[in-house]
Amino acid sequence: MARPPLFRRAKVTRIVKETPDTRTFVLEPHDGPFSYQAGQFCTFKVVVDGKPYFRSYSMSSCPVTDTEFMTTVKRVPGGTVSNWMHDNLGEGDEVELTVPTGRFCLRAGDVPVLGFSGGSGITPIISLAKNTLATTDREVRLLCADRDRTSAIFEAALDELAARYPGRLTVVRHRDDEHGYVDAAKVLEFVGPHTAGDAYICGPEPFMELVENALPGPGRIFSERFGGAAAKPTAPAVGASNSPAQTVSTTNPTAAAIPSPATPAGSTAAPAPVAALSDGPATPATATGPVAPAASTGASAAAPVQSAATEEGTVTIFLNRKKKSVPRRDGETLLESARRAGLTPPFSCESGNCATCMAKLTEGKATMRVNDALTDDDLEEGYILTCQAVPDTPSVTVRYE
Ligand SMILES: Cc1cc2nc3c(=O)[nH]c(=O)nc-3n(C[C@H](O)[C@H](O)[C@H](O)COP(=O)(O)OP(=O)(O)OC[C@H]3O[C@@H](n4cnc5c(N)ncnc54)[C@H](O)[C@@H]3O)c2cc1C
Ligand code: FES
Repeated sequence: MARPPLFRRAKVTRIVKETPDTRTFVLEPHDGPFSYQAGQFCTFKVVVDGKPYFRSYSMSSCPVTDTEFMTTVKRVPGGTVSNWMHDNLGEGDEVELTVPTGRFCLRAGDVPVLGFSGGSGITPIISLAKNTLATTDREVRLLCADRDRTSAIFEAALDELAARYPGRLTVVRHRDDEHGYVDAAKVLEFVGPHTAGDAYICGPEPFMELVENALPGPGRIFSERFGGAAAKPTAPAVGASNSPAQTVSTTNPTAAAIPSPATPAGSTAAPAPVAALSDGPATPATATGPVAPAASTGASAAAPVQSAATEEGTVTIFLNRKKKSVPRRDGETLLESARRAGLTPPFSCESGNCATCMAKLTEGKATMRVNDALTDDDLEEGYILTCQAVPDTPSVTVRYE
């Protein structure tokens, strides 16, 4: 069966200037509306100076309450894609993007929803807040941290929501220019008696770590990380502060901590699917269990090739008409191997969510730690998520398309 294209086209129908450095892009997909859940994101393919870049942006709209499909992008100083979108995209232009994906979605429950946002982290948080208010009776409390008043995104929209749902939405604003960064005491004060509430956290990495560690529990914690793998927390670090809280992070590399597609709304998360692939046709996925995590993530470029962890075998990567081979290294993902080979392979979430890093395994076998993006058809055709795939055979070859 023909695979639908990974990237779809959408027209920018409207652009809203939210703050001096933040814009909302209203998008109209060519092939009809996307089906999505509040809190999900799309990965955009943007060509800047002839080079393709892949970046994920969350939906600020909510499918239940908004007729328009929207994403909200904040400029990152020196950033390639965010600035390109602000400076080059106009109404009527077209963009390429994947269908929405991601697991930072509302989980079933009746405890209050506690949202923690830092800067552009408000994008999925407002989507989740709209969803919770419209589809449940749950109370929603948001702690929104911003640099200063002018950089606060969706201030008016949140005021409107609070007025529309009297007594159900509380928004506490924190401005760094007035009070310094959010600290643990502020988090505890905000949580108050709602310690059993479900916490949804999105913002800069230091903000997220601070909130995760400060939460007293026993409420569940769900996190969406914008910043890539370098910022991944480990389970012990999160629970280090006498916290009984359970962390379910969308960037946690531990497969067992991420709910499978079959259990999107439960707290008893089943292990995410782990597939072993070969380049033969239609090899069924075998649950071999996750491999041991790599000793370091994203730092492999600097490590000597002949380390103790180097095993026999070769990883060969084809990308942009270049072919590179490096010795296989124990526990290293194919994305990490490609970087070590001096290539700049595409990636975005590095957590198995977005499929930006997908490539075809044309020789050997590999096991994915997490696959929340590829379909069974993709797997049958030999596609893998290179950010999650670790070789099982001495030699593997992977081709980016
Ligand atoms: C799941 C997910 C959802 C997201 N949702 C949103 C959202 O809703 N809204 C939003 O605004 N963002 C969101 N992001 C973040 C977004 O994907 C981008 O990471 C962000 O816009 C920055 O991309 P950029 O291309 O502008 O910056 P990049 O070019 O990636 O640069 C990022 C930073 O690195 C620095 N840098 C770049 N290259 C170098 C270099 N060679 N040496 C040293 N420093 C360098 C830049 O100066 C900049 O500070 C999300 C990310 C993820 C993973
Ligand atoms: S980078 Fe998102 S799935 Fe690999």
